[in-house]
Amino acid sequence: MRLKDRVAIVTGGGKGIGAVYSSRLSEEGAKVVVADIDFDAARETAKKISASGGSAIAVDVDISDQASTEAMAKSAISEYGKIDILINNASLMSVLPRRPWYEIPVDEWDRVMSVNLRGMFLCCLSVFPAMKERHYGKIINISSSRIYEGMPNRLHYTTSKAGVVGFTRALAREVGEDNILVNAISPGFTQSETQVSSSTPEYMKAHIDRRCIRREEYPEDLMGTVVFLASSDSDFITGQLINVDGGYSMH
Ligand SMILES: NC(=O)c1ccc[n+]([C@@H]2O[C@H](COP(=O)([O-])OP(=O)(O)OC[C@H]3O[C@@H](n4cnc5c(N)ncnc54)[C@H](O)[C@@H]3O)[C@@H](O)[C@H]2O)c1
Repeated sequence: MRLKDRVAIVTGGGKGIGAVYSSRLSEEGAKVVVADIDFDAARETAKKISASGGSAIAVDVDISDQASTEAMAKSAISEYGKIDILINNASLMSVLPRRPWYEIPVDEWDRVMSVNLRGMFLCCLSVFPAMKERHYGKIINISSSRIYEGMPNRLHYTTSKAGVVGFTRALAREVGEDNILVNAISPGFTQSETQVSSSTPEYMKAHIDRRCIRREEYPEDLMGTVVFLASSDSDFITGQLINVDGGYSMH
């Protein structure tokens, strides 16, 4: 119970890796705000957490919309009275076709930036007053290990995930005086349901072959790092990027 009575918002918490973050944070004692544009999925995840003895609410959010992220923060405060942890996990990834960079429609490029980067900015903006007031906060941004090698065919996605790192470092410097810590994780190719359904077995095998640890990466492989960064065990760590990909990339 390393997060006992902490209040955590998980964006994109309804399904995929975000749903596993939500459940694991609850198992560690956190009260969880499961925030997702897929409200049915968010409700389902919150219901499962409550059924297993935890405390969670579902919130319908589009992180690219400021009114929506402000309403999300307001729901967290009115239900639980504070916000300790924000996991910026929601993004556009598996819905994006893999294709050469020159075939990416400009409006798709803009949409990826508005969710993956503006969305992260808006979520941080919306929780900031509550964290500043209590002089405490842990923000964890989800990047991707594809930035180290410059993985091709989702150029907008790779670019946005590299942006997450600059965002993390600069924001960490600006909010350190408020005792708000900002870190990032770069997961490798992970077996979330959406990732599996949008990738061929050959594509998945090619990833495993290059790892030091030659097996699939599961959402559970990311949980120890998330809990560490959300807990007081990491209270003097900020502006960092931790790579969790079985040794595919090293940095
Ligand atoms: N699965 C992987 O291999 C992998 C690898 C590296 C990084 N990541 C990152 O990990 C995170 C989770 O990955 P996943 O595989 O579970 O992805 P996913 O596509 O399954 O889940 C993304 C979640 O975000 C939600 N979402 C999308 N747009 C939103 C919006 N505008 N507002 C609110 N919610 C929105 C979706 O409904 C979904 O629940 C993402 O940031 C992804 O980029 C995943």
